[in-house]
Amino acid sequence: MKIKKAVIPVAGLGTRFLPATKTVPKELLPIVDIPAIQYVVQEAVDSGISEVIFVTGRGKDSIEDHFDEAPELEQVLEGRGQTETVKNLRRIAEMIEVVSVRQKRPLGLGHAVLCARDLVGDEPFAVLLSDDLIEASVPCMQQLVEIFEEKKESVIALRRVPEQEVQKYGIVQGKQLSDRLYEVEDMVEKPRPQEAPSRMAIIGRYILRPEIFSFLEKVTPGKGGEIQLTDGISKLSREKKVYGYEFEGEHYDIGDKLGFVRATVAYALKRTDLKEQVREYLRTVIGEK
Ligand code: G1P
Repeated sequence: MKIKKAVIPVAGLGTRFLPATKTVPKELLPIVDIPAIQYVVQEAVDSGISEVIFVTGRGKDSIEDHFDEAPELEQVLEGRGQTETVKNLRRIAEMIEVVSVRQKRPLGLGHAVLCARDLVGDEPFAVLLSDDLIEASVPCMQQLVEIFEEKKESVIALRRVPEQEVQKYGIVQGKQLSDRLYEVEDMVEKPRPQEAPSRMAIIGRYILRPEIFSFLEKVTPGKGGEIQLTDGISKLSREKKVYGYEFEGEHYDIGDKLGFVRATVAYALKRTDLKEQVREYLRTVIGEK
């Protein structure tokens, strides 16, 4: 049972990044010069996934275009002798097979995943949320794939967060099985700190068994009046085992403005073409204070 397909919901309106997202999908906002979604798709590819299912909405066609060929652009660049750039663009178009399905109304993350049901079929699949960027020597999704291969059950990525941040995440109540592995007993979507069962937060990487779809079908609107994926997985965990894995790596919540800036700086500092100048610039800026 290999994980071949990844569902990536991209229908969200991105209101936290207005006015930038008035006409540009938030998933295409660049971290340095690479659209955020490309890092996420790259992580899927690096974890052995061969097909991406985008759950899209109105105004999001340019996300699919980003992973398609651009012959006119390539022709112009070829004419100017920019063969390296052309190679880079081709690499993006050849990265992975892309299909898409529309989520016609913004009914929530659980509903978005349910929209991909027919394209996923009866097999376990990955879900990656593009607001979460994760830098790791072994890609976060690959870490989950390894757990799945051993357990053959659903597994979700976890990170310990400070108490004041629990209300930004789905929070897990679980039994610790080993250093990083938990068995999920329950989950609550964005609880208030006093109601949170722990500080273990769900980060946007999941491997789910196909049974999740029948549970998502029965989920009623929860937090924010939306069909929550967390509520679906919580129901699943009562019938089948669900594991949580505290992954190794650095997490950036780029759905948040500070998180977006942090990611931009961190990724720039990892780029061989930029790191020296950026480090020098940061030194001057801090020195000026
Ligand atoms: C979603 C999920 C939440 C999870 C989070 C991770 O929330 O509903 O359970 O913790 O992603 O980023 P969102 O950030 O889309 O509101």
